[in-house]
Amino acid sequence: MEKERKRSLRVVLVPFPFQGHITPMLQLGSILHSNGFSITVVHAQYNSPNPSSHPDFSFIPLPDTSSGPPVPGDIIASLVQLNTNYKARFQECLAEVMRQQGPDDGIACIIHDELMYFSQAEAKDLKLPSIVLTISSAANFLARAALIQLRAEGHIPFPESMSQNLVPELYPLRFKDLPIFEKLDDYLPIVSKAFNNKTFSPIIYNTIECLENSSLAKIQQQYQVPIFPIGPMHRIVSTASSSSLLEEDISCLTWLDKQSCKSVIYVSLGSVAFMDIKELVEMALGLANSMQPFLWVVRPGSVRCAEWIEVLPEGFKENIGERGYIVKWAPQKEVLAHGAVGGFLSHCGWNSTIESICEGIPMICRPCFGDQTVNARYVSHVWRLGLELEGDLERGEIERAIRKVMAEEEGEAMRERAKNLKENIELCTKEGGSSYNSLKRLVEMIMSF
Ligand code: UDX
Repeated sequence: MEKERKRSLRVVLVPFPFQGHITPMLQLGSILHSNGFSITVVHAQYNSPNPSSHPDFSFIPLPDTSSGPPVPGDIIASLVQLNTNYKARFQECLAEVMRQQGPDDGIACIIHDELMYFSQAEAKDLKLPSIVLTISSAANFLARAALIQLRAEGHIPFPESMSQNLVPELYPLRFKDLPIFEKLDDYLPIVSKAFNNKTFSPIIYNTIECLENSSLAKIQQQYQVPIFPIGPMHRIVSTASSSSLLEEDISCLTWLDKQSCKSVIYVSLGSVAFMDIKELVEMALGLANSMQPFLWVVRPGSVRCAEWIEVLPEGFKENIGERGYIVKWAPQKEVLAHGAVGGFLSHCGWNSTIESICEGIPMICRPCFGDQTVNARYVSHVWRLGLELEGDLERGEIERAIRKVMAEEEGEAMRERAKNLKENIELCTKEGGSSYNSLKRLVEMIMSF
C-alpha cells in the first residue's frame, strides 16, 4: 500500500545548465526513480540533457527567453539570465505539469540546483515543498558563506599581501582559496539570495560524512534545516546512463588497456575551465618531460584563440608517439576506474574530485575558479591525497609534480591514504552506512510531504 503511494509521487528536478551541475542532478533523479518516484526534469534549452539517455524521466524545456542564450560557457552570465528571465516561465511549466497529473500522480516536491534559486519562490506560490541540491562540497558551502560575510564587511577584494593568510575559522583555507569568480559583483548578490533561501529548505549534498564530517557538523549547527549528505551519487545510482553533453571518445580505453598498472597520469580540466596557448604548451612539455604515459583531455574551444591542439609545438605528437593520448572528451568515470591510471591532474571540480577519491587515485590539483580552489586545498591539506600546482603553469613544476605523485614515496603515501578513504566511502553507501541512512531519511521526508 505504502509502496503504491510512493510510486505515484512525482519529483520535479531543476538543474543548472552546465555539465558539472546536470550530472549530479540526473544521478539524483535516477536514485529517486529507483526508490519509486516519477521524475520530471525542467531544464533550459541550451546544454539540454539528452532525454533518450533517461527514457524513464519526463523532460520539459523552459521556453527560450527573448534575450537568447548567454555567452557560451559563461556561468555567471547564465546565472544572471536564468534567475531574472525564467521565473514566470517556470511557473507556467509547473502549472502545466500539475494540470497533466492524474488523481494518483501528484508533485511531491521540487528539487532545484542551489543556483536556480528562483524556482523556490515559484514552488512556494504553488504551495509545493522544495529541496536544494548543492553540487559542491560542504567545505565550499561554508567558504562561500564566509566570502559573503567578508564582502559585506569590506574585506573583499583583499590585497595581494593577504592572499596567503588563513581565513579565520576556515582552516586550512587561505584568502586566495576562497571560492571567487571573476565577476564577483554579478555573482555574489545572486548567490547571497540563493544562500538566504537555504535557511528555509532542506539541503542535499553530494558528499560523504567520512570525508566532510566537520564541515557538515558546522552546517548543521549554523543552519536549522535538515541536511542529507547522500554521496557519492555516481556510486549509488543503479543505472549506467550517461549524462555527458559531449561525445565521449572511448578509444582511449583501448589505449589504456595497453599501459601498465598505475602508470598513466590522466589530465582533464573539466567542462568549463579555459587555458591560454602558453599554458597549453607548458602543460604539453611538462607531460612530455615527465616521461610518464599520459591521457589528456583537451576540450575543443577550451584553449583561448585556438580551435583545439593545432597550436602545440611542431613535432610534439610525433615525439610523444604512443606514450601520450589526447582526446576531446573522455568517459571519465571509466578512465579513473581503469587499472592503468595512477594519478589525476585535475582542476578539482567537485565531480572530478569525488570521482577520483572514490577510485583511490591521488591528484595534482590545478584549480581555476570558484569552489575548485577550496577542493584543491582540501585534497592537498586535509585529506592529503595530492598536491597543488600554484602560480603560473610551468613545465618544470608540472614534471616534478608528476614524478612526485607517480613515482616517489610522497605519492605512495598519498595512494595509501586514498585507498583507505575509498574503502571507508564504500562502507558509507552500504546498508547502515551514513549515506545509505541519509538517503533513507530523504526518501521518507519526500513521501511525508
Ligand atoms: C562545474 C564547476 O566548474 C566546478 O567547479 C563545480 O564543482 C561543478 O560544476 P566542471 O568544471 O565541469 O563543473 O567540473 P566537474 O565538477 O569535475 O564535472 C565534470 C564532469 O564531467 C565530471 O562528472 C566528469 O566525469 C565529466 N567529464 C569530464 C567527462 O565525462 N569527460 C571528460 O573528458 C571530462
